Amino acid sequence: ALAATATLAWADFPDKPVTLVVPFAAGGPTDKIARDLAEALRKPLGQTVVVENAGGAGGTIGAAKVARSAPDGYTLLVHHIGMATAPALYRKLPYKVPEDFEMLGLINEAPSVLIGNNSLPPNNFSELRQWITANGSKVNLANAGLGSASHLCGLMLQSALKSSLTTIPYKGTAPAMTDLIGGQVNLMCEQATNAVPQIEGGKVKVFGVTSSRRLTIAALKDSPTLAEAGLKDFDVQVWHGLYAPKGTSAPVLARLNAALRAALKDPDLIKRQGALGLTVISDERLDPAGHRRFVETEKQRWAKVIKEAGEYAD
Ligand code: MLT
Repeated sequence: ALAATATLAWADFPDKPVTLVVPFAAGGPTDKIARDLAEALRKPLGQTVVVENAGGAGGTIGAAKVARSAPDGYTLLVHHIGMATAPALYRKLPYKVPEDFEMLGLINEAPSVLIGNNSLPPNNFSELRQWITANGSKVNLANAGLGSASHLCGLMLQSALKSSLTTIPYKGTAPAMTDLIGGQVNLMCEQATNAVPQIEGGKVKVFGVTSSRRLTIAALKDSPTLAEAGLKDFDVQVWHGLYAPKGTSAPVLARLNAALRAALKDPDLIKRQGALGLTVISDERLDPAGHRRFVETEKQRWAKVIKEAGEYAD
């Protein structure tokens, strides 16, 4: 009887639209990825997939909302690296990672790019390094707020440079980018998703990519990695994953995982994400267990950097 029930649940799910909660603002990097994924999930799920933005507090408001949602497979979370870093950054996090979620698979990896205002004197990373040494904390670094990808990359960068820069937090990626272009702030370590259009438009300077390998997209193929440019072993990537609330039934989880796998094989999705410098996942991190191990590894790695930096929020 159990097997029959399981088969039935698989066959019936989903029989109404599925919602992907994005814990950041509409129009930002995570939102772009979620909307692209929603489109690609439509066919394998045979249902409409809608995106709902629930931004604020570094992605923790949206994540908390999904953790508290009915575990019926109709409310899912698309979250980035903040899934793994929030436990170290927020003293009063209203959920546990990974305990309060079911991992449905990793979606992509999203390298960042160290970019600067066009009128900065240095033109490459080694000149930038000298300029930072000469100017110290007069150099400032924008980020999209505590827990944002640019905040995290900035922490890793300052730790690797053994320099403390002045951090300027903004309320999101858009105002940070506007001030970087306008020269109110010097540098930003931003997700390629958001930086590529500005690089293509000649609006910012590139000092290097943060992943361990160069990117193949035209705008960045000649840009060295920061590791090549002298920051030994530097390797920072943002990533995005799909989650369901804890307690979602096994057949529904299997159905969602199968749909995610199908969506991530969609050639159009691979092409669209590739154009933004993203690499769609095709390895063991598509398995819930592999995804979970990866989140735990990242959680530990970042907890050290966050602790060293001593930056927390309540
Ligand atoms: C967003 O979509 O707003 C970003 O991914 C947030 C961030 O920069 O971390």
